[in-house]
Amino acid sequence: MKLFGSPSLLNHIPYAAGGFVLFFVLGAAGFVGLQHTAPKQPIAFNHAKHVSNGVACTDCHAGVQTQAKATLPSVDLCIGCHQVALTNSAEEERVRTVAAAGQELNWVQLTQTAPHIFFSHRRHVAVAHLPCAECHGPMEQATKPPDRAFRVFSMATCIGCHQQHRVNADCNDCHR
Ligand code: HEC
Ligand code: HEC
Ligand code: HEC
Ligand code: HEC
Ligand code: HEC
Repeated sequence: MKLFGSPSLLNHIPYAAGGFVLFFVLGAAGFVGLQHTAPKQPIAFNHAKHVSNGVACTDCHAGVQTQAKATLPSVDLCIGCHQVALTNSAEEERVRTVAAAGQELNWVQLTQTAPHIFFSHRRHVAVAHLPCAECHGPMEQATKPPDRAFRVFSMATCIGCHQQHRVNADCNDCHR
Protein backbone atom coordinates (compact mmCIF):
# COMPACT_ATOMS: atom_id res chain seq x y z
CA MET A 1 0.00 0.00 0.00
CA LYS A 2 1.28 3.41 -0.94
CA LEU A 3 1.09 5.47 2.24
CA PHE A 4 3.77 8.03 1.60
CA GLY A 5 3.64 8.59 -2.10
CA SER A 6 0.73 11.00 -2.19
CA PRO A 7 1.29 14.43 -3.75
CA SER A 8 0.61 16.15 -0.50
CA LEU A 9 -1.03 19.49 -0.07
CA LEU A 10 0.60 19.52 3.36
CA ASN A 11 4.03 20.10 1.87
CA HIS A 12 2.93 23.48 0.58
CA ILE A 13 1.84 24.96 3.88
CA PRO A 14 4.32 27.73 4.78
CA TYR A 15 6.73 27.13 7.65
CA ALA A 16 5.38 30.06 9.67
CA ALA A 17 2.43 27.84 10.58
CA GLY A 18 0.95 28.24 14.05
CA GLY A 19 -1.74 26.30 15.88
CA PHE A 20 -4.36 27.68 13.55
CA VAL A 21 -2.65 26.29 10.50
CA LEU A 22 -2.06 23.01 12.31
CA PHE A 23 -5.79 22.60 12.75
CA PHE A 24 -6.31 23.64 9.19
CA VAL A 25 -3.87 20.96 8.14
CA LEU A 26 -5.66 18.28 10.16
CA GLY A 27 -8.99 19.44 8.76
CA ALA A 28 -7.68 19.55 5.23
CA ALA A 29 -6.22 16.07 5.61
CA GLY A 30 -9.73 14.92 6.40
CA PHE A 31 -11.27 16.56 3.37
CA VAL A 32 -8.56 16.20 0.80
CA GLY A 33 -8.24 12.73 2.21
CA LEU A 34 -4.84 12.09 0.66
CA GLN A 35 -6.63 9.69 -1.68
CA HIS A 36 -6.25 6.46 0.24
CA THR A 37 -9.02 4.58 1.97
CA ALA A 38 -7.88 3.37 5.34
CA PRO A 39 -7.33 -0.31 5.93
CA LYS A 40 -10.23 -1.57 8.02
CA GLN A 41 -9.60 -1.74 11.76
CA PRO A 42 -10.49 -5.11 13.34
CA ILE A 43 -13.12 -3.54 15.65
CA ALA A 44 -15.23 -0.42 15.07
CA PHE A 45 -13.63 1.12 18.14
CA ASN A 46 -15.43 4.08 19.73
CA HIS A 47 -13.10 6.57 21.46
CA ALA A 48 -15.93 8.82 22.67
CA LYS A 49 -17.65 6.04 24.66
CA HIS A 50 -14.44 5.05 26.41
CA VAL A 51 -13.18 8.52 27.20
CA SER A 52 -16.60 9.65 28.48
CA ASN A 53 -16.57 6.58 30.77
CA GLY A 54 -13.36 7.85 32.33
CA VAL A 55 -10.77 5.67 30.55
CA ALA A 56 -7.64 7.80 30.08
CA CYS A 57 -5.70 8.13 26.83
CA THR A 58 -2.63 6.81 28.66
CA ASP A 59 -4.46 3.66 29.84
CA CYS A 60 -4.62 2.45 26.24
CA HIS A 61 -1.66 4.29 24.69
CA ALA A 62 0.77 3.33 27.41
CA GLY A 63 3.97 4.49 25.71
CA VAL A 64 3.24 8.20 25.43
CA GLN A 65 5.03 9.30 28.61
CA THR A 66 8.05 7.03 28.37
CA GLN A 67 8.99 6.13 24.80
CA ALA A 68 8.87 7.13 21.14
CA LYS A 69 5.79 5.07 20.26
CA ALA A 70 2.44 5.79 21.89
CA THR A 71 1.48 2.14 21.16
CA LEU A 72 -1.91 0.61 20.36
CA PRO A 73 -3.49 -1.61 23.03
CA SER A 74 -3.38 -5.42 23.17
CA VAL A 75 -6.57 -7.47 23.46
CA ASP A 76 -5.60 -8.40 27.05
CA LEU A 77 -6.11 -4.79 28.05
CA CYS A 78 -9.58 -4.76 26.48
CA ILE A 79 -10.50 -8.01 28.23
CA GLY A 80 -9.59 -6.45 31.57
CA CYS A 81 -12.93 -4.62 31.24
CA HIS A 82 -14.77 -6.77 28.67
CA GLN A 83 -14.47 -10.26 30.18
CA VAL A 84 -18.18 -9.92 30.94
CA ALA A 85 -20.47 -8.09 28.50
CA LEU A 86 -21.00 -4.41 29.30
CA THR A 87 -23.28 -3.79 26.30
CA ASN A 88 -25.20 -5.86 23.77
CA SER A 89 -22.88 -4.70 20.98
CA ALA A 90 -21.81 -7.39 18.49
CA GLU A 91 -18.46 -5.60 18.20
CA GLU A 92 -17.90 -6.04 21.91
CA GLU A 93 -18.71 -9.76 21.59
CA ARG A 94 -16.09 -10.03 18.85
CA VAL A 95 -13.45 -8.72 21.25
CA ARG A 96 -14.11 -11.75 23.48
CA THR A 97 -14.17 -14.13 20.51
CA VAL A 98 -10.73 -12.93 19.38
CA ALA A 99 -9.31 -13.15 22.90
CA ALA A 100 -10.80 -16.63 23.48
CA ALA A 101 -9.12 -17.83 20.26
CA GLY A 102 -5.78 -16.61 21.64
CA GLN A 103 -5.49 -14.08 18.84
CA GLU A 104 -4.68 -10.38 18.81
CA LEU A 105 -6.66 -7.46 17.47
CA ASN A 106 -4.26 -6.40 14.77
CA TRP A 107 -4.79 -2.65 14.80
CA VAL A 108 -3.38 -0.81 11.84
CA GLN A 109 -1.27 2.25 12.63
CA LEU A 110 -2.87 4.98 10.54
CA THR A 111 -1.16 8.04 11.91
CA GLN A 112 2.45 8.00 10.92
CA THR A 113 5.38 9.93 9.60
CA ALA A 114 7.82 8.61 7.02
CA PRO A 115 9.96 5.68 8.24
CA HIS A 116 13.18 7.73 8.27
CA ILE A 117 11.71 10.40 10.56
CA PHE A 118 12.36 10.13 14.29
CA PHE A 119 9.47 11.32 16.44
CA SER A 120 9.29 10.79 20.19
CA HIS A 121 6.04 10.93 22.13
CA ARG A 122 7.96 11.11 25.41
CA ARG A 123 9.72 14.27 24.31
CA HIS A 124 6.52 15.99 23.21
CA VAL A 125 4.10 14.72 25.88
CA ALA A 126 6.20 14.20 29.04
CA VAL A 127 8.84 16.89 28.42
CA ALA A 128 7.04 19.57 26.39
CA HIS A 129 3.61 18.90 27.96
CA LEU A 130 1.77 19.25 24.66
CA PRO A 131 -1.83 18.01 24.74
CA CYS A 132 -2.64 15.09 22.40
CA ALA A 133 -5.25 17.22 20.63
CA GLU A 134 -2.60 19.70 19.50
CA CYS A 135 -1.40 17.11 17.01
CA HIS A 136 -4.24 14.57 16.75
CA GLY A 137 -7.34 16.75 16.98
CA PRO A 138 -10.25 15.88 19.30
CA MET A 139 -9.90 12.06 19.53
CA GLU A 140 -12.25 12.05 22.55
CA GLN A 141 -15.04 12.87 20.08
CA ALA A 142 -14.25 10.07 17.61
CA THR A 143 -17.06 7.51 17.46
CA LYS A 144 -15.32 5.28 14.91
CA PRO A 145 -11.78 4.78 13.57
CA PRO A 146 -10.68 7.23 10.86
CA ASP A 147 -12.03 6.11 7.48
CA ARG A 148 -9.01 7.43 5.63
CA ALA A 149 -5.33 6.63 5.86
CA PHE A 150 -3.70 9.93 6.47
CA ARG A 151 -0.19 11.17 6.96
CA VAL A 152 -0.44 13.93 9.50
CA PHE A 153 3.01 15.39 9.43
CA SER A 154 4.91 17.18 6.76
CA MET A 155 8.19 18.87 7.61
CA ALA A 156 6.34 22.21 7.54
CA THR A 157 3.98 21.07 10.30
CA CYS A 158 6.81 19.94 12.59
CA ILE A 159 8.87 23.05 11.98
CA GLY A 160 5.90 25.43 12.20
CA CYS A 161 5.30 24.37 15.77
CA HIS A 162 9.01 24.31 16.60
CA GLN A 163 9.34 27.93 15.47
CA GLN A 164 6.38 28.88 17.63
CA HIS A 165 8.03 27.22 20.66
CA ARG A 166 11.56 28.39 19.73
CA VAL A 167 12.85 24.85 19.40
CA ASN A 168 15.96 24.52 17.24
CA ALA A 169 16.08 20.96 16.01
CA ASP A 170 18.90 20.01 13.61
CA CYS A 171 18.15 18.18 10.39
CA ASN A 172 19.64 15.09 12.00
CA ASP A 173 17.43 15.25 15.08
CA CYS A 174 14.46 14.45 12.85
CA HIS A 175 16.11 12.69 9.90
CA ARG A 176 17.88 9.50 10.90
C1 HEC B 1 -11.20 0.55 31.58
C2 HEC B 1 -12.25 -0.28 31.01
C3 HEC B 1 -12.28 -0.50 29.51
C4 HEC B 1 -11.26 -0.90 28.68
C5 HEC B 1 -9.81 -1.12 29.04
C6 HEC B 1 -11.85 -1.10 27.39
N1 HEC B 1 -13.18 -0.83 27.42
FE1 HEC B 1 -14.51 -1.02 25.88
N2 HEC B 1 -15.96 -0.26 27.02
C7 HEC B 1 -15.84 0.13 28.34
C8 HEC B 1 -17.05 0.80 28.76
C9 HEC B 1 -17.32 1.39 30.14
C10 HEC B 1 -17.92 0.77 27.65
C11 HEC B 1 -19.27 1.44 27.49
C12 HEC B 1 -20.36 0.69 28.05
C13 HEC B 1 -21.65 1.44 27.81
O1 HEC B 1 -21.81 2.04 26.73
O2 HEC B 1 -22.44 1.43 28.72
C14 HEC B 1 -17.22 0.06 26.58
C15 HEC B 1 -17.78 -0.25 25.37
C16 HEC B 1 -17.14 -0.95 24.37
C17 HEC B 1 -17.77 -1.46 23.15
C18 HEC B 1 -19.24 -1.39 22.79
C19 HEC B 1 -19.73 0.00 22.66
C20 HEC B 1 -19.67 0.54 21.28
O3 HEC B 1 -20.69 0.97 20.78
O4 HEC B 1 -18.59 0.55 20.68
C21 HEC B 1 -16.78 -2.04 22.40
C22 HEC B 1 -16.90 -2.69 21.03
C23 HEC B 1 -15.55 -1.91 23.16
N3 HEC B 1 -15.81 -1.26 24.34
C24 HEC B 1 -14.30 -2.34 22.72
C25 HEC B 1 -13.13 -2.21 23.43
C26 HEC B 1 -11.83 -2.57 22.92
C27 HEC B 1 -11.55 -3.10 21.54
C28 HEC B 1 -10.95 -2.33 23.93
C29 HEC B 1 -9.46 -2.53 23.89
C30 HEC B 1 -8.77 -1.75 22.89
C31 HEC B 1 -11.70 -1.82 25.06
N4 HEC B 1 -13.01 -1.75 24.72
C32 HEC B 1 -11.13 -1.49 26.28
C33 HEC B 1 -14.74 -0.06 29.15
C34 HEC B 1 -13.49 -0.44 28.70
C1 HEC C 1 -9.99 2.02 25.70
C2 HEC C 1 -8.77 2.25 24.96
C3 HEC C 1 -8.48 3.61 24.35
C4 HEC C 1 -8.57 4.86 24.93
C5 HEC C 1 -9.07 5.21 26.33
C6 HEC C 1 -8.06 5.79 23.96
N1 HEC C 1 -7.68 5.14 22.82
FE1 HEC C 1 -6.87 5.94 21.18
N2 HEC C 1 -6.98 4.17 20.19
C7 HEC C 1 -7.43 2.99 20.75
C8 HEC C 1 -7.54 1.98 19.70
C9 HEC C 1 -8.03 0.56 19.91
C10 HEC C 1 -7.12 2.60 18.51
C11 HEC C 1 -7.08 1.97 17.09
C12 HEC C 1 -8.47 2.05 16.46
C13 HEC C 1 -8.88 3.44 16.08
O1 HEC C 1 -8.18 4.11 15.33
O2 HEC C 1 -9.96 3.89 16.53
C14 HEC C 1 -6.77 3.97 18.85
C15 HEC C 1 -6.29 4.90 17.96
C16 HEC C 1 -5.85 6.17 18.33
C17 HEC C 1 -5.16 7.08 17.46
C18 HEC C 1 -4.83 6.82 16.00
C19 HEC C 1 -3.65 5.92 15.96
C20 HEC C 1 -3.46 5.35 14.58
O3 HEC C 1 -2.66 5.87 13.86
O4 HEC C 1 -4.14 4.39 14.23
C21 HEC C 1 -4.89 8.21 18.16
C22 HEC C 1 -4.17 9.44 17.66
C23 HEC C 1 -5.43 8.02 19.48
N3 HEC C 1 -6.00 6.76 19.55
C24 HEC C 1 -5.39 8.95 20.48
C25 HEC C 1 -6.11 8.85 21.66
C26 HEC C 1 -6.32 9.94 22.59
C27 HEC C 1 -5.79 11.35 22.40
C28 HEC C 1 -7.06 9.44 23.62
C29 HEC C 1 -7.63 10.18 24.82
C30 HEC C 1 -8.43 11.37 24.50
C31 HEC C 1 -7.29 8.03 23.35
N4 HEC C 1 -6.72 7.72 22.15
C32 HEC C 1 -7.97 7.15 24.18
C33 HEC C 1 -7.72 2.79 22.08
C34 HEC C 1 -7.94 3.80 23.01
C1 HEC D 1 3.71 16.96 18.88
C2 HEC D 1 2.73 16.16 18.20
C3 HEC D 1 2.10 14.98 18.93
C4 HEC D 1 1.56 14.94 20.19
C5 HEC D 1 1.49 16.04 21.24
C6 HEC D 1 1.03 13.61 20.36
N1 HEC D 1 1.27 12.86 19.23
FE1 HEC D 1 0.67 10.94 18.87
N2 HEC D 1 1.63 10.96 17.05
C7 HEC D 1 2.32 12.04 16.55
C8 HEC D 1 3.05 11.61 15.37
C9 HEC D 1 3.97 12.49 14.53
C10 HEC D 1 2.74 10.25 15.18
C11 HEC D 1 3.30 9.32 14.12
C12 HEC D 1 4.56 8.72 14.71
C13 HEC D 1 5.19 7.61 13.93
O1 HEC D 1 5.11 7.58 12.70
O2 HEC D 1 5.80 6.77 14.60
C14 HEC D 1 1.83 9.88 16.25
C15 HEC D 1 1.28 8.60 16.41
C16 HEC D 1 0.42 8.24 17.44
C17 HEC D 1 -0.21 6.94 17.58
C18 HEC D 1 -0.07 5.75 16.66
C19 HEC D 1 1.32 5.21 16.58
C20 HEC D 1 2.08 4.99 17.87
O3 HEC D 1 2.91 5.84 18.21
O4 HEC D 1 1.89 3.97 18.54
C21 HEC D 1 -0.98 6.99 18.71
C22 HEC D 1 -1.81 5.88 19.30
C23 HEC D 1 -0.81 8.33 19.29
N3 HEC D 1 0.04 9.06 18.49
C24 HEC D 1 -1.42 8.75 20.45
C25 HEC D 1 -1.12 9.95 21.12
C26 HEC D 1 -1.64 10.31 22.44
C27 HEC D 1 -2.57 9.46 23.29
C28 HEC D 1 -1.12 11.55 22.74
C29 HEC D 1 -1.29 12.37 24.01
C30 HEC D 1 -0.99 11.67 25.29
C31 HEC D 1 -0.29 11.96 21.61
N4 HEC D 1 -0.30 10.95 20.66
C32 HEC D 1 0.39 13.16 21.51
C33 HEC D 1 2.33 13.31 17.05
C34 HEC D 1 1.91 13.67 18.33
C1 HEC E 1 2.57 21.12 18.43
C2 HEC E 1 3.99 21.43 18.46
C3 HEC E 1 4.99 20.46 17.90
C4 HEC E 1 4.89 19.68 16.77
C5 HEC E 1 3.73 19.59 15.79
C6 HEC E 1 6.12 18.96 16.66
N1 HEC E 1 6.97 19.28 17.69
FE1 HEC E 1 8.82 18.48 18.01
N2 HEC E 1 9.01 19.61 19.69
C7 HEC E 1 8.08 20.49 20.17
C8 HEC E 1 8.57 21.08 21.41
C9 HEC E 1 7.87 22.14 22.27
C10 HEC E 1 9.84 20.50 21.65
C11 HEC E 1 10.81 20.78 22.81
C12 HEC E 1 10.72 19.67 23.81
C13 HEC E 1 11.79 19.83 24.88
O1 HEC E 1 11.67 20.76 25.69
O2 HEC E 1 12.73 19.05 24.87
C14 HEC E 1 10.09 19.58 20.54
C15 HEC E 1 11.25 18.83 20.40
C16 HEC E 1 11.53 18.00 19.36
C17 HEC E 1 12.78 17.29 19.16
C18 HEC E 1 14.01 17.41 20.04
C19 HEC E 1 14.79 18.62 19.57
C20 HEC E 1 16.13 18.79 20.22
O3 HEC E 1 16.53 19.96 20.36
O4 HEC E 1 16.76 17.80 20.58
C21 HEC E 1 12.66 16.56 17.99
C22 HEC E 1 13.70 15.66 17.34
C23 HEC E 1 11.34 16.81 17.48
N3 HEC E 1 10.68 17.68 18.32
C24 HEC E 1 10.83 16.23 16.32
C25 HEC E 1 9.58 16.52 15.79
C26 HEC E 1 9.07 15.94 14.57
C27 HEC E 1 9.81 14.94 13.68
C28 HEC E 1 7.82 16.47 14.40
C29 HEC E 1 6.84 16.23 13.25
C30 HEC E 1 6.59 14.82 12.91
C31 HEC E 1 7.56 17.36 15.50
N4 HEC E 1 8.64 17.36 16.32
C32 HEC E 1 6.39 18.06 15.65
C33 HEC E 1 6.88 20.80 19.60
C34 HEC E 1 6.33 20.21 18.46
C1 HEC F 1 11.38 18.96 13.17
C2 HEC F 1 11.75 17.86 12.35
C3 HEC F 1 12.49 18.13 11.05
C4 HEC F 1 13.60 18.92 10.88
C5 HEC F 1 14.33 19.76 11.91
C6 HEC F 1 13.98 18.79 9.50
N1 HEC F 1 13.09 17.96 8.86
FE1 HEC F 1 13.13 17.49 6.86
N2 HEC F 1 11.39 16.47 7.05
C7 HEC F 1 10.71 16.26 8.24
C8 HEC F 1 9.48 15.54 7.94
C9 HEC F 1 8.46 15.12 8.96
C10 HEC F 1 9.46 15.33 6.54
C11 HEC F 1 8.38 14.65 5.73
C12 HEC F 1 8.74 13.24 5.47
C13 HEC F 1 7.67 12.57 4.62
O1 HEC F 1 6.56 12.42 5.09
O2 HEC F 1 7.98 12.23 3.49
C14 HEC F 1 10.68 15.92 6.02
C15 HEC F 1 11.03 15.89 4.68
C16 HEC F 1 12.25 16.33 4.18
C17 HEC F 1 12.70 16.15 2.81
C18 HEC F 1 11.92 15.46 1.72
C19 HEC F 1 11.16 16.45 0.85
C20 HEC F 1 9.97 17.01 1.52
O3 HEC F 1 9.85 18.25 1.65
O4 HEC F 1 9.10 16.24 1.99
C21 HEC F 1 13.94 16.71 2.72
C22 HEC F 1 14.84 16.80 1.49
C23 HEC F 1 14.28 17.24 4.04
N3 HEC F 1 13.22 16.98 4.89
C24 HEC F 1 15.47 17.85 4.36
C25 HEC F 1 15.73 18.50 5.57
C26 HEC F 1 16.91 19.30 5.86
C27 HEC F 1 18.05 19.55 4.88
C28 HEC F 1 16.78 19.76 7.14
C29 HEC F 1 17.70 20.69 7.92
C30 HEC F 1 17.89 22.00 7.31
C31 HEC F 1 15.54 19.22 7.65
N4 HEC F 1 14.93 18.46 6.68
C32 HEC F 1 15.07 19.43 8.94
C33 HEC F 1 11.11 16.69 9.49
C34 HEC F 1 12.17 17.54 9.76
